[in-house]
Amino acid sequence: MSSKTPEERESQVEVQGEAVNEERDGASCLWLGPVEPCAIVIFGASGDLTARKLVPALYNLYTQGGLPRRFLILGAARSGLSDDEFRSRMKKAVLAGEGRDPGPWEEFAACLHYQPLTYDEPGDYTTLGVRLERLEALHGTGGGRVFNLAVPPDIYQTVAVNLGRAGLGRQERGWTRVVVEKPFGRDLASARALNQALTAHFDEEQVYRIDHYLAKETVQNILMLRFANAIFEPVWNRNYVDHVSIVSSETLGVEHRAGYYERAGVLRDMFQNHMLQLLSLVAQEPPSIFEAERVRDEKVKVFRSFRPFDLDNLDANLVLGQYGQGTVNGQPAPPYRAEAGVAPDSLTPTFALMKIFVDNWRWQGVPFFLVSGKRMRSKITRLVIHFKEVPHALMRQVLGDHITANRLALGIHPDETISLTIQTKNPGARLCLRTVRMLFDYHQGYEAPRLEAYEKALLDCMLGERILFWRQDGLEMCWSFLDPVLNLCETCGNRAERLKPYPAGSWGPPEAAALMRGRPLPWA
Ligand code: BG6
Repeated sequence: MSSKTPEERESQVEVQGEAVNEERDGASCLWLGPVEPCAIVIFGASGDLTARKLVPALYNLYTQGGLPRRFLILGAARSGLSDDEFRSRMKKAVLAGEGRDPGPWEEFAACLHYQPLTYDEPGDYTTLGVRLERLEALHGTGGGRVFNLAVPPDIYQTVAVNLGRAGLGRQERGWTRVVVEKPFGRDLASARALNQALTAHFDEEQVYRIDHYLAKETVQNILMLRFANAIFEPVWNRNYVDHVSIVSSETLGVEHRAGYYERAGVLRDMFQNHMLQLLSLVAQEPPSIFEAERVRDEKVKVFRSFRPFDLDNLDANLVLGQYGQGTVNGQPAPPYRAEAGVAPDSLTPTFALMKIFVDNWRWQGVPFFLVSGKRMRSKITRLVIHFKEVPHALMRQVLGDHITANRLALGIHPDETISLTIQTKNPGARLCLRTVRMLFDYHQGYEAPRLEAYEKALLDCMLGERILFWRQDGLEMCWSFLDPVLNLCETCGNRAERLKPYPAGSWGPPEAAALMRGRPLPWA
């Protein structure tokens, strides 16, 4: 373990930072500004999220010079670990990541600490507060504090209340922020209750409700594409757009998360958050200024304009499915009901296709098709703007009545691309058209380092930048929209009939294609 003081480490990080900026083209775009010294407290530190995402993201930030000069990370969870045991667990998790430089590990690890804590034991939070102050003095981090709730959702409230009661929500010595992972509630009532528990001790400005999709580079770019280019906005509306499709298909199954997933299902897991956020980025109006509150105001206007589902005719707008046995990536995959922790008669949906209308001037009559599912054929995350066909087929006698319409595809995964399909004439005497693609790849001509979603989210939280986080009013709007559907689907007598089976490794149930009514399938 390195015996360097925080000051010695500080000067080393400065040198690293300069080197990075000089060496790499584009690196100056990487950082928004210096981050103030702070302490990052992770509740749920012995859990999966901490090992897979949070600590690796912090390590990456550290190695790129993105963490503050003085920082400390204090993990807290039920397991009785020592600092060193926690460090060695984290080392294993971090260095398992492809391409991670083990060089700076010891220095980074000197800032890692651990405090055992029982979540519903108020006295443990007082002890945590005392330990935190001691560590802050040791590392010279001053008063900035991030509390990250990487705990199971049913414990958010307990942690928030106990933090508040122990006086840890106060901002007397510096800023304090609390990061809440998704899902934020399981319906409107529980989301409100959780918010009340949080805001009894923290102001709205202190609460960072995370949605890692928003922090993906390509997702952030949606607003840039729309509002930093003059050519798209004039056609970005009902006059030119036929429909929009947003797909997030996964090959993974429920993995080891059945306890959570069985109660959540795909609508809570993917739609209430990621899918509706993606929709809002396509549908929102330009904010007057690119600033958190203005951007989030515009999103809320979209959520408020969702046309409520016709519950008497739900099948016209929603297909739910559950994966059965199949083959994924050439490997046999068990049915959802045979996964560990899943009830053998489970009625939890693992797939949904939803047709949503946004009832406002810009989008009247334009359907948005949202699809997400587990154990599908490929992992694809993509938004596609399907434009209308040309108004008049002047080459009808040769080409027929229809000319393939233009499509603008925004690839999020695995391709990080923007592509536009256009019609061109094939060389030759005969009039033949073919569809070609104009393609931009995010990686093309840009070698500088990039921030992964969790790195960006954590960094923004330390900087106090809230543009990529949910605001409570938007969150409640989305729950209000989905609640009636969830209620109906979870309580109706024909619940089992509504759930359409699909083989693992397929593109979902055939009913999904039927709902598209001849339009191109969102994953095609
Ligand atoms: C999470 C969901 O929010 O997003 C998971 O809980 C899902 O079920 C994951 O697998 C998908 O994220 P990504 O970034 O891999 O598309």
